[in-house]
Amino acid sequence: MCGIVGYIGHRPAVPILLNGLKRLEYRGYDSAGVAVLRNGQIEVRRKAGKLRVLIEEVARNPLEGMVGIAHTRWATHGEPIDRNAHPHVNPHRTLAVVHNGIVENFLALREELESEGVTFASDTDTEVIVHLIDRHMQAGRSLVEAAREALRMLKGSNAIVVLSAQEPDKLITARLGNAGGIVIGHGEDGEMFVASDLPAILEHTRRVTFLEPGQMAVVTREGAQVFTLEGEPVAVEITTVPWDITAAEKGPYKHFMLKEIFEQPRALMDTIAGRVDFRTGEIAFSTLPLTSEQARSISKIHMTACGTAYHTTLVGKVLVERLARIPVETMIASEFRYADPIVDESMVVLAVSQSGETADTLAAMHEGKQKGATLWSIVNVIGSQAMRIADGYISMQVGPEISVASTKAYTAPLVDLYMLAVQLGFLRGRITPEERLELVEHLQYVPGWVEQVLSRAEAIHQVAFKYRHMRHCFYLGRGINMATAYEGALKLKEISYIHAEGYPAGEMKHGPIALLDEDMPVIAVIPQDPWYEKMLSQVEQAKSRGAPVIAVATEGDERIADLADEVFWIPKVPWMLSPVVAIVPLQLFAYYIAAELGLDVDQPRNLAKSVTVE
Ligand code: G6P
Repeated sequence: MCGIVGYIGHRPAVPILLNGLKRLEYRGYDSAGVAVLRNGQIEVRRKAGKLRVLIEEVARNPLEGMVGIAHTRWATHGEPIDRNAHPHVNPHRTLAVVHNGIVENFLALREELESEGVTFASDTDTEVIVHLIDRHMQAGRSLVEAAREALRMLKGSNAIVVLSAQEPDKLITARLGNAGGIVIGHGEDGEMFVASDLPAILEHTRRVTFLEPGQMAVVTREGAQVFTLEGEPVAVEITTVPWDITAAEKGPYKHFMLKEIFEQPRALMDTIAGRVDFRTGEIAFSTLPLTSEQARSISKIHMTACGTAYHTTLVGKVLVERLARIPVETMIASEFRYADPIVDESMVVLAVSQSGETADTLAAMHEGKQKGATLWSIVNVIGSQAMRIADGYISMQVGPEISVASTKAYTAPLVDLYMLAVQLGFLRGRITPEERLELVEHLQYVPGWVEQVLSRAEAIHQVAFKYRHMRHCFYLGRGINMATAYEGALKLKEISYIHAEGYPAGEMKHGPIALLDEDMPVIAVIPQDPWYEKMLSQVEQAKSRGAPVIAVATEGDERIADLADEVFWIPKVPWMLSPVVAIVPLQLFAYYIAAELGLDVDQPRNLAKSVTVE
């Protein structure tokens, strides 16, 4: 996960910045860098590898200054080498930028800048931000105006900090969307801090301002001024962070679940970062290295997990079977362990687990191991057992998930499974390099698509308010989105205690349809996927029995607009990635119902975050 730290004050900036980066190390990165301003000059040190490599470099070639920015990077555009590490500077070294996120229109902007004669020194998308600001400043704009103009040209979810030698007494920072947060720390005696995450600055101050999406700030020794991207001033709200770091992490959100839902654009970006190269389409998992020979020798994959994690495997099965043509069996871990499953040395047992400590999942892994299978896992908690006992693993990169109801640890492994399926397909010769590039290219838009759904949270809140007193409901889906129906139902039942049943829509006619009437709302997951027409007839059947229908559908779908009572709109996305986007309105729906009912959203009754007993 990329990390950002910025400082302006009267003390040497470098130790403060490097220390801040250390506090963010747990999030993972592949390179690091720092830039400071001294006597009208920006000086930069950047190094691929661990932070200690940068610290050694700074010890060899010291840097001094009382204003600076620093960054830890997870590669997205361009490999993790020194020249792709942040901060990025313009040729005259008068501007430096650090950035978290993905500039979606990076290629178009880069081509435009190159046609104007700009030479790029890195492969990153970040560098376009530097040149755009530079261009506006050369046209006579102030730093704030130039930054604002540049930011308005960027598409995607991004967080940035800018340092300028021409206006040395300020830092500019901005948050565009949810892929990267920005927190401003108000210190004592003319010291101010900027960071992507609270832990980086908490040792200096507990008085902080969180930027909202679409806001930018000018940070000077005297304080911070916040503006919208249109330049309208916004009142600066200072929150005092309590000493309890867990509570501190909740930030402005009422519950962790809501915070974690909103963290998904960033979590997804971090999931993709460091693994794919959008230019070549290459995919690499450093902890699950795969050769073509290995990929070709797999006769079957058994996917196993519990709860929310199990639902990810249902999507994983569709993806791996379609893209890699490897047969996949999914089984709930508590069943797998006692099923005497048919497993041999040519097979893989793949476990998905947020905690990596779920007893049933670990037992299923042991069962697979005993029978000679290769063990893989997709796990969030670093160092957990499911990570340690696996022959190869993918770490989820979503950061700590505190709410018992899992959200970001659902969508991130969906993307991991997508990348894994694409890679297996490629290595087995089922996908050409061109097809792989196209499948990989779609990934860069995923954080932005989720962002779009989140921007409609209030509309979902209103529907949730209307339906908060229902006692029963069905969630229906088919194909790749059958899992979305199961997961949507699980979210609702676990935190609101409303009976919600996730069902394969085509199975309704074999019994459950008898339950449908005006008191049984149906939540239909019906994006534009290959099962769309089939789902549409299920929705018609539900309507004809008087059931109120809430649909999750694709923008512009007029048939659904006419048919359903309520619609949660999602953007048009490739069907293989639709589960990642379609679940988000259902997470919000469940959350708002439980919150409106005044329930303990983060700690629902009878449930535990990690079930380490049978
Ligand atoms: C518990 C949690 C669920 C979670 C399941 C599996 O039941 O309440 O939210 O999905 O365990 O947990 P894991 O850590 O293995 O993903």
